Amino acid sequence: MCGIVGYTGTDTAKDILLAGLKRLEYRGYDSAGVALERTDPAGETHLDVIRRVGKVAGLESELEHVDDESTCGIGHTRWATHGRPSVANAHPHACCGGNIAVVHNGIIENFAELRDELTARGHVFGSETDTEVLAHLVEEAYAQTHELVAAVRKACECVVGAYGLAAVCADEPGVIAVARKDSPIVIGRGEHGSYVASDIIALIDATRDVVVLEDGQFARLAPEGITYTDAQGELIEPEVTHIDWDIDMAEKGGYPDFMLKEICEQPRVVRDTLVGRLAPSGELDIDELGLTFEELDLIDRVYVIACGTSYHAGLVAKNLIEGWARIPCEVEAASEFRYRNPIITPSTLVVAVSQSGETADTLAAIRDARIKGAKVFGITNVVGSPVARESDGVIYTKANKEIAVASTKSFIGQIVSLTLLAMLLGQVKGKLTTGQVRMLFRELGDTAAQIQYILDSQREAVHEAALACKDAPSALFVGRGMGAAISYEGALKLKEVSYLHAEAYAAGEMKHGPIALIDPGFPVIAVTTKSPVYDKVVSNLKECEARGAKIIALATEGDEDIKQIADHVIYIPPVRDAFSAITASVPLQLLARDVAVMRGCDVDQPRNLAKSVTVE
Ligand code: G6P
Repeated sequence: MCGIVGYTGTDTAKDILLAGLKRLEYRGYDSAGVALERTDPAGETHLDVIRRVGKVAGLESELEHVDDESTCGIGHTRWATHGRPSVANAHPHACCGGNIAVVHNGIIENFAELRDELTARGHVFGSETDTEVLAHLVEEAYAQTHELVAAVRKACECVVGAYGLAAVCADEPGVIAVARKDSPIVIGRGEHGSYVASDIIALIDATRDVVVLEDGQFARLAPEGITYTDAQGELIEPEVTHIDWDIDMAEKGGYPDFMLKEICEQPRVVRDTLVGRLAPSGELDIDELGLTFEELDLIDRVYVIACGTSYHAGLVAKNLIEGWARIPCEVEAASEFRYRNPIITPSTLVVAVSQSGETADTLAAIRDARIKGAKVFGITNVVGSPVARESDGVIYTKANKEIAVASTKSFIGQIVSLTLLAMLLGQVKGKLTTGQVRMLFRELGDTAAQIQYILDSQREAVHEAALACKDAPSALFVGRGMGAAISYEGALKLKEVSYLHAEAYAAGEMKHGPIALIDPGFPVIAVTTKSPVYDKVVSNLKECEARGAKIIALATEGDEDIKQIADHVIYIPPVRDAFSAITASVPLQLLARDVAVMRGCDVDQPRNLAKSVTVE
């Protein structure tokens, strides 16, 4: 959470910082700020720190009154952890002397202790944040080193926790010092200067060749170039990564919001995630597998660990892994898994699912699982992310950059990837023949066209359904089997983007409590696609109908009977039950988005949320 950006060069810094912050806003939007170097008529350099509560747009209006001269600065967009959203708690944070300013993404775990020590030594704090200790620590260190990167390095030695940080110092004009531990930092050199940010997306206008800083590495950015050092201050030459995706992916491209754009990209995500995965021999080809078939054959237990939407992809995977490979599979929230003592042996496979690849709880769970001897397989959307780096093998979801905070296309990419993994396990265990794998693979690929069909033909039906539930105080999502897994995600999507309370239940459990909620007009959204449990779900719906519920059914095309109990029907093409999560999720995403728009919500940046949750 939180996004940081920095620029030093020959162009106007405030414009570059603002453009970068806007692209990083998905990481948090409680407040935003910049520190800009300014040279006075006497030739002295000062730092102007400008901060605003709320989104970057507010900061932008404030910066209209600032002249364009500054060519070096740092910026930040915040998701509040320590201290409420306020100007005082907004970054950048300056030291007592005002000549050093710091932006930070991460958590300083020992900040209370450091703050007490610094206060005892005479430092005065202006915020409740953990970050401010960094500004004061760098200030003390700078008094000894007179060199910004060395001072930052010294400050980092005192700190326990996670940080991606950038600092500027009025006594070293044009220099930005950067450090990283457990929070992402990318650095790039463009034609007009040097750039740093939490995410490539903020640099991509300037360069496609970036350095992904590693833990314990430092960088010194200057207008004329960048130098990298290790924890001992020795010069290093980090690897340069070339970015081949396009900036169009970070623009709305004519759609009213990113969420809708990303929902509409899902056919491509399915296709891209499958490209090259089936060898002519009929073997599944996971090139970043990292585990031998012999190792996979020994697996006798699978845990899928993840958070949020990624956890729901795990619920889908459980059905497939157990169904095809006959391996017991548990799905667990990473935040729970890491604090239990799960049964892990060398034949346990832990599958970590994370769009961002940097979710703190998921990463901690991976580390714990590895210490206990498990093999870890990552499913992530971000190449080179911590989840990818710390797993034995990985499948990339090929969703490309996802901007809307609520995950949609990544979810579909995750399900497709998990489906491949389940098929592979089935193949390796001898439970699926090559012929069956070929057939499943072909049908999996067909879901791309099926999603497109839903997008083209069901928008009106979804819109009607959204109108029917937009004013309700609450909604219930129900289904069985795959339908239950999808219902959980449908309810999450609706509540996170529209603030309409929703919960999901396995339909058979309704009569044990949730049915008490139902009174005339109460919306029940039911996944009633054709499956082995279709009749059971219909019976459960009849119980809701009898109590006056307004029923919105997701049904398989051709199912006319469902109209007898449903007030609204959204159709999806006939699909094997194993793949129904891929298609049936799409109308639920559209429903959540339409309700949010109707309720006047900011669908791309719902309140209180952030896309990357790098704190536990
Ligand atoms: C946040 C995001 C969700 C996401 C979850 C897990 O809550 O808002 O969209 O599902 O984190 O993130 P991950 O990057 O690990 O999939």
